Amino acid sequence: MSRLNGKVALVTGAARGIGEAIARVFTANGAFVYVTDIDDALGREVAGALGAAARYLRLDVREESDWQRVTAQILAERGSLDVVVNNAGITGFENGVDTHDPENATLESWHAVHRTNLDGVFLGCKHAIRAMRRTGKGSIVNISSRSGLVGIPGAAAYASSKAAVRNHTKTVALYCAEHGLAIRCNSIHPAAILTPMWEPILGTGPEREARMRAFVRDTPMRRFGTPDEVAAVALLLASDEAAYMTGAELSIDGGILAGSAAAPGAQHGDER
Ligand SMILES: NC(=O)c1ccc[n+]([C@@H]2O[C@H](COP(=O)([O-])OP(=O)(O)OC[C@H]3O[C@@H](n4cnc5c(N)ncnc54)[C@H](O)[C@@H]3O)[C@@H](O)[C@H]2O)c1
Repeated sequence: MSRLNGKVALVTGAARGIGEAIARVFTANGAFVYVTDIDDALGREVAGALGAAARYLRLDVREESDWQRVTAQILAERGSLDVVVNNAGITGFENGVDTHDPENATLESWHAVHRTNLDGVFLGCKHAIRAMRRTGKGSIVNISSRSGLVGIPGAAAYASSKAAVRNHTKTVALYCAEHGLAIRCNSIHPAAILTPMWEPILGTGPEREARMRAFVRDTPMRRFGTPDEVAAVALLLASDEAAYMTGAELSIDGGILAGSAAAPGAQHGDER
């Protein structure tokens, strides 16, 4: 497979979950991938497993100096940066399920989620454009969420940050087109994808299976998605096959945004 032959890619938050799957499918398709994260041990392990076509670099997406250092190093080492996937993100529930509703969330937790999910994507787009100017072309893929398209009462900051990522993607797409740059920018909107991000929410006890079923009860396909299913769409957007796609948003959600699975005439009873 060679859909990304000769391309140099940077993936943020690539030490596990969706980012790891994207890094894997990109190297399998001929790209050289910079696996970046703040979890150095796991990031190095992932890059090591991918072999000669990958390298780990620490990049905290919240820190502009990290973006400057990493993009300068990539241009010095490889001559170009062709694909940036802004994947790193947090729910705010990393240390246990907390209060994130609009009435009770703390300003501190609101800022912390936006700092990673939104500031991180802003910086990622900014430094991707600057680096891609060297060739005048490239693909920026922003991982938003279904939560960026609908309200989520129990995760207000997460939903807000992902909605802002969706909008900023379109601004970046228009800006690049206006400046005559062949730099495309698109967003991906996954719903429930089974990754380590879900562990604090699902827990490990006997209730885990029931919680998993409850989370996908309203999903027409009645299951979690997989990281590889998201990576397949990132691969399309990163490749030249998507040369006329910019400012677009692609949902990967088992049909949840298409409407209700419990519509009249549905095959399954309302109890599911
Ligand atoms: N899993 C889902 O159901 C789902 C659904 C919709 C959207 N998403 C989005 O997909 C992306 C990946 O999610 P995941 O489920 O693989 O998450 P995950 O928690 O399994 O992995 C996230 C990775 O990001 C890294 N990270 C966190 N903060 C960082 C920072 N400041 N700088 C750099 N790296 C950082 C973590 O160390 C981790 O390796 C996120 O943006 C998430 O919001 C996930």
